[in-house]
Amino acid sequence: MSRNRTALITGASAGIGAAFAHEFASHGYDIALVARRADKLEALAADIKAQFPVQVTTLAMDLASTHACRAIVAELEGKAVHVDVLVNNAGYALPDGFVECSWDEHQAMLQVMLNGYTEVTHRLLPGMLAQGFGRIINVSSLSALAPPSKGSLYSAIKRYVNDFSAAIDFEFRERGVHCTALCPGFTYTEFHDVMGVREATNKFPKYVWQSARQVAAEGYDAVMKGKVIKVTGTLNRCIAALLGLLPRPLQLHFGRTSRGFED
Ligand SMILES: NC(=O)c1ccc[n+]([C@@H]2O[C@H](COP(=O)([O-])OP(=O)(O)OC[C@H]3O[C@@H](n4cnc5c(N)ncnc54)[C@H](OP(=O)(O)O)[C@@H]3O)[C@@H](O)[C@H]2O)c1
Repeated sequence: MSRNRTALITGASAGIGAAFAHEFASHGYDIALVARRADKLEALAADIKAQFPVQVTTLAMDLASTHACRAIVAELEGKAVHVDVLVNNAGYALPDGFVECSWDEHQAMLQVMLNGYTEVTHRLLPGMLAQGFGRIINVSSLSALAPPSKGSLYSAIKRYVNDFSAAIDFEFRERGVHCTALCPGFTYTEFHDVMGVREATNKFPKYVWQSARQVAAEGYDAVMKGKVIKVTGTLNRCIAALLGLLPRPLQLHFGRTSRGFED
């Protein structure tokens, strides 16, 4: 019996993750949604089911728990949901410097955005390889391509995400699995509210921002076309190209002397 393919999306209760859910549903994928806020996931599931003839599964999980990835995969297996596409998207940035944030905060961030992306990929890849098809989008950031910012693990984590994505793509592309690191710049979501910098970012001109829908549409297109690193938006691609021309010592100088916000 034929079945729809299924996309598992983490961080789907808001922003880019919710936009990815719409994007994949519009292409006929069944959807599995993960985040902590169950009410938001249920509302999104109802909205998607009202618009598209697809199945939607919700899993209210805290990805900061070291058991979460195992539990997600087990729950999906229990429901006979096979994952064809994985979108590792859950993420946030911490507002304070390295020492000002507690170790628990750093550990949770590393678990959600580094270990979590890696573990769920490791757990789902065998099923993708067995069927000779898989697509993985790891949501990174333009900041992975920019100078490191003071005291923050964010850009270091996103750099890891880029290299990890490329390594997975290089190893498994011949066997039908593509992996894309998606690098958005400033995007209208809850991200800057969660970080507590909305007032400051409101002053940024409109042309630096993209909508979550634009980012998700570019991400879908990129992974289907087999792009390994995808910077979204023309302005961000120009910035990335210019940054790529800077010698590393100059990049480090900019990192040392600027404060900046995560994007
Ligand atoms: N917005 C930007 O300007 C921007 C730019 C570049 C990259 N990004 C990246 O885009 C990705 C998505 O962020 P966004 O902009 O869409 O932000 P957002 O609107 O704040 O959404 C973040 C999502 O992550 C989920 N999440 C956070 N912590 C979690 C946890 N412990 N367990 C499970 N889910 C968790 C949130 O759900 P719950 O709170 O319900 O758990 C929410 O669904 C992130 O990886 C971010 O680094 C964003």
